Amino acid sequence: MFFEPYKIKVVEPVPITTKEERQKIIKEAGYNVFNIPAEKVTIDLLTDSGTSAMSQNQWAGIMLGDESYAGSRNFYHFKDTIKSIFGYKHVIPCHQGRVAENIVFSNILEPGDIALSNTFFDTTRANVLSKGGIPIDVVIEEAYNPDIEMDFKGNVDLNKLEEVLKREGDRVKIFVFTITNNSGGGQPASLKNIREVSRLLKKYGVPLFFDTARYAENCYFIKEREKEYKDKSILEIAREIFSYGDGAMMSAKKDALVNIGGFITLNDDDLAEKIKQTLIIIEGFPTYGGLAGRDLEAIAIGLKEALDEGYLNARIRQVRLLGNYLIERNIPIIKPIGGHAVYLDAKKILKHIPQSQFPAQALTCALYVEGGVRGVEIGSLMFAEKDEKSGKINYPKNELVRLAIPRRVYTDNHILYVGEVINEVFNKRENIKGLKIIKENKYLRHFTAILEEIN
Ligand code: F0G
Repeated sequence: MFFEPYKIKVVEPVPITTKEERQKIIKEAGYNVFNIPAEKVTIDLLTDSGTSAMSQNQWAGIMLGDESYAGSRNFYHFKDTIKSIFGYKHVIPCHQGRVAENIVFSNILEPGDIALSNTFFDTTRANVLSKGGIPIDVVIEEAYNPDIEMDFKGNVDLNKLEEVLKREGDRVKIFVFTITNNSGGGQPASLKNIREVSRLLKKYGVPLFFDTARYAENCYFIKEREKEYKDKSILEIAREIFSYGDGAMMSAKKDALVNIGGFITLNDDDLAEKIKQTLIIIEGFPTYGGLAGRDLEAIAIGLKEALDEGYLNARIRQVRLLGNYLIERNIPIIKPIGGHAVYLDAKKILKHIPQSQFPAQALTCALYVEGGVRGVEIGSLMFAEKDEKSGKINYPKNELVRLAIPRRVYTDNHILYVGEVINEVFNKRENIKGLKIIKENKYLRHFTAILEEIN
């Protein structure tokens, strides 16, 4: 009999609204769930980032915050913990993942340089572009097909990788291995693949960095699916992964079980010095990097908790609970079920809505109206691009709704409620209408766009 290896000490009420209220709210929000106040959301699956429930030890750690400007006690705990997991020489705190990306790329990339990844997460890609760099994804082709079941759909295609390395030579300045691969559906990479990627990069003299937002979940999949690692601990697997690289960037808002924080850790002395200089200008002194001492303490404790196999088992199991509930009802989702989220395949669910009418956004809104469940669109609203020359719109391959599960926050009953809401919407899917944009901004329009139903 399974049960979670923790119990609940503090509870927070779940907001309850009526369907009539939600119909009004979604209209007022311009059919964009980013515009809905969280107090009007019953189950919030917008993101698993910064939404974890902290443990009693993390809260106790908050009370041990040493808010000294330089050399806070908590920094040393933070640094030692990260070194014991990652094994790199330098540890540099910052306030979240995208700042880590910005600072690293500022010091590595010149305009025209190339950065490679299995798949860059949006902010990572944007940070490469903002330095004039060229981001290239070299993930295996299967990653783009939601129906293919594979153990390690986050793996790199070694042929694609070597081809770019050969062709571009010195222009390639960094490889960022995203584990798990968020943009590809929270899919893991295998240790075998990581080892081979490392070997190739060494041959061409390109540094390997990890984007470790969800590395503990990736380690769990390795233990589960890669035979040689079934008797290793999650920590041993993590250490082996990082032994093949030169550094890592982390959004601590995911697998460090905190609400804010991040860091950069690396071996290269010169680069670390440059990074610290940039940090001082935009984040703060290198022993706090935009965080309070108490935040550093909560991260140090959370990093250790997230390596606990019992916790990871409960975590991944709950994501699968939702995924399997939907699979049993023939509701199309990305397969296999990833580590942090379930992705609904809106293209298959809403066949009557063309991509020009934002099917994944329409489905996101329908889930909110039906049951107060908030997911996020990953489809045309986020990614469709107008070709400036021809005026033609290029649509993304997939229309997805991501339902990201916060860590240690919801019970199985909440998750099953979400399943029921999705099922209800699925059964009435023919009634869902397409949407059109009324107002949009030039960059990252999905955050702020105002839409309207097409009647
Ligand atoms: N890398 C990955 C793989 C991420 O998923 C994220 C954030 C970041 C970097 C950036 O970190 O938010 O701390 O600045 N992902 C969130 C999400 C926003 O909802 O998937 P950040």
